[in-house]
Amino acid sequence: MQLDKRRDISIDGLKGRVLELAKRRGFLWPSYEIYGGVAGLWDYGPFGAMLKHRVESAWRDIFVVGESALPIETPTIGVEEVFLASGHLSNFVDLIVECVNCQTALRADHVVTEYLKSRGIAADLCDPDIATACVPSSEKTQELIDSYGIMCPDCGGPLGKVHDFNLMFTTHIGPGTQRNGYLRPETAQGIFADFPRLLRFYRDRLPFGVAQIGKSYRNEISPRQGVIRLREFTQAEVEVFVDPREKNHHPRFDEVANVEINILSKDFAGTASVKAACERNIIAHEYLAYHIARCQEFFTRVGVRESQLRFRQHLPDEMAHYAVDCWDAEGLTQHGWIELAGIADRTDYDLKQHERQSGLQMAVFVPYEEPKEVERIVVRPNMGYLGPKYKGKAKQVAAFLSAIHDTKGPIVFDGDVVDPEGYAIETVRQSISGDFVTPHVIEPSFGIDRSIYTVLEHAYDEDIIDGERRIVLRLSPDIAPVEVAVFPLVKALNEKALEVFRLLRRAGLLVEYDDSGTIGRRYRRQDEIGTPFAVTIDHETTENSTVTIRDRDTTKQVRSSIESLADVLHGMLVHGFDRTSS
Ligand code: GAP
Repeated sequence: MQLDKRRDISIDGLKGRVLELAKRRGFLWPSYEIYGGVAGLWDYGPFGAMLKHRVESAWRDIFVVGESALPIETPTIGVEEVFLASGHLSNFVDLIVECVNCQTALRADHVVTEYLKSRGIAADLCDPDIATACVPSSEKTQELIDSYGIMCPDCGGPLGKVHDFNLMFTTHIGPGTQRNGYLRPETAQGIFADFPRLLRFYRDRLPFGVAQIGKSYRNEISPRQGVIRLREFTQAEVEVFVDPREKNHHPRFDEVANVEINILSKDFAGTASVKAACERNIIAHEYLAYHIARCQEFFTRVGVRESQLRFRQHLPDEMAHYAVDCWDAEGLTQHGWIELAGIADRTDYDLKQHERQSGLQMAVFVPYEEPKEVERIVVRPNMGYLGPKYKGKAKQVAAFLSAIHDTKGPIVFDGDVVDPEGYAIETVRQSISGDFVTPHVIEPSFGIDRSIYTVLEHAYDEDIIDGERRIVLRLSPDIAPVEVAVFPLVKALNEKALEVFRLLRRAGLLVEYDDSGTIGRRYRRQDEIGTPFAVTIDHETTENSTVTIRDRDTTKQVRSSIESLADVLHGMLVHGFDRTSS
């Protein structure tokens, strides 16, 4: 066997090939293809679904088992109150423009950016007056469309007016239109809405983490990048609730302190340990740095190449409205650097918003080591006044007032000054044994589908064996949909091969049996699926009960007795072919 040196294909050389292989080998298929397909909806075929299951298991190993962040499962349909509180109803918008001629709906800012880029014109779409997030302003986008006379990129027709489009899918809960529902755009909100119960579950102690893997939905305006931008996708999120005063003291920081990561931030571009990045204030605090390191552990375990993985800090004008520091884990693909995960400090934004919306307290009592004598301001709600004035909202206003321990000037609720008749302010001397603290949330949030696509790209390779081109998916054995393939060399050996197949399946291996076509074609098929090892039952098997094991990556072969085969393969899956076989 002659094996050429691995050909590391350039990113450009990959264009189209990975998706073609993924479709041909049953990893990814366009959904509802028999009816023409729908942009942004993709199926996982049998090998894809298995791969996805294993990627999610690797994620669970690191974030659920490793971090003791127990998972919960909340509905994918959320009620209106949740998204009023989270801000998704008002803020979760993209700019849309429709072609007057062909009626195609387009992302207005993308149309403008593409147009300007193709003509080498630099222009900033962001509104300098919007301080919190780089939301391209509709006015600015409209202005550019008008001034450059930008037309529909699909048909050349005139474009209509730019306007906001909310990305949430809407529905009704129950018959009729009584209660609006929304398909969740992130799994996180289900966790925030359960916070009071979760706090009790964790016996009122911080910090604790809660995980959720599940579908999220975004009605993307025109998803055109294959499987990168989906309308239904899987997120794996952890919300870590932490005392804000402890954000720079992660109890297990030492375990990751020396992990080196590729960083791109406003002040630094290069490789540094997460400890150095914290000390130099590149990363805001240890909790973020710790989760960035764990994030890298996950990606490299599932096969994202470390050299093509970087952590990019959001610029202040790019940050989501709830975050104070946010990092994207980005993987380099044929689509450029794409965001695979976000690691954000969401502060107390979400809990405070849900506290307001629900009227329920979302704070944690954190006891001191010794009680303290203090003077405190107490705001006592006057329900006799608040009830008739605020009616259904009175409970919410009262909870808001009771949570105040510092007042200067008028108290404002929901943008309106609360009439001083609605409360009394008292200064009292108290012995206090702790503080009520609204936890801050550190959130590593992964896009599983984008991670899988990146893994497929990074695993894709082509080489030449015996003068023949071969495609090989160099998937990590941790996630390969098939671990071992079993082949009879000739038909007469089918029964013996099936025996070996059953033996390995009983030993807990993911095995596939294949007796169709030439042995060469069977090897190629498994190489394209990413199966790390293939076992062949040949004539020698009947003489001495041994089989060959072939290594996908090198195509080297060794013999093993059938008796020890399962153990040998288990060892190879963990330690590699060479270390076990030599
Ligand atoms: N809870 C935080 C959150 O949802 P995000 O950055 O909007 O943050 C997290 O999403 C991850 O979900 C992203 O890093 C990305 O991998 C994935 N994601 C977001 N939108 C997606 C889409 N339309 N298609 C596929 N994956 C998407």
